[in-house]
Amino acid sequence: MPRGAAARANELRSIAAAMPEADRIQDADLRQKVLEVWAEALAESSFGSLEEVPGEPEIDPSINQLSHQRAVAELAWRIADVMEEYLPGLRFDRDVLVAGALVHDVGKAYEYDPDRASRWRARPQAAGYPALRHPVYGAHLALRVGLPEEVAHICAAHSREGEGIQRSLEAVAVHFADFLYWELVAKARTGLSEAEVIRLASPADGLRAVPARHPRREPSS
Ligand SMILES: [Fe+2]
Repeated sequence: MPRGAAARANELRSIAAAMPEADRIQDADLRQKVLEVWAEALAESSFGSLEEVPGEPEIDPSINQLSHQRAVAELAWRIADVMEEYLPGLRFDRDVLVAGALVHDVGKAYEYDPDRASRWRARPQAAGYPALRHPVYGAHLALRVGLPEEVAHICAAHSREGEGIQRSLEAVAVHFADFLYWELVAKARTGLSEAEVIRLASPADGLRAVPARHPRREPSS
């Protein structure tokens, strides 16, 4: 095996070991592409692992992206369990649900990349700040590695970007699992809502903040 291919295979193995929830995906090709999209995202960023990618630093900087997305995958799975039990005839596509939950924030390795952030921050009039938020870039990455549009849709629509379109059943579950997660973290840590935490972290003049390491965002995950 060529050296580059061996390194990529190792990386895919370590990503798989870090998020065992991917084992719930029955379709082997889909499961492989979930690992590949994260490998791609990390390779083009300055982060060396999923654990290095921030979750929502303004809410709790101790929570990394890996921990967050594993919890969202579990929450979305249990939401599907409960709804299928209590609503006869309702069925989630569990493969799409788990794949979407595990990659919904894959664009964060791009949006939160400190090198890109300092370039965007220095000259927002050039390419914006951030140039693309993680839902948009995540959908791009998902399609680039060949993930199906059902999964790319979850990347694109899990956040407020999804408010202008009709979300799929699985995207609704991931959206609420994601927002519930951060809302509960914000409440548990500060007593405030996520929106209040973000508002307090923003400057009074309404300009986008200039954090030391990561771009700030509007209150939505
Ligand atoms: Fe998220």
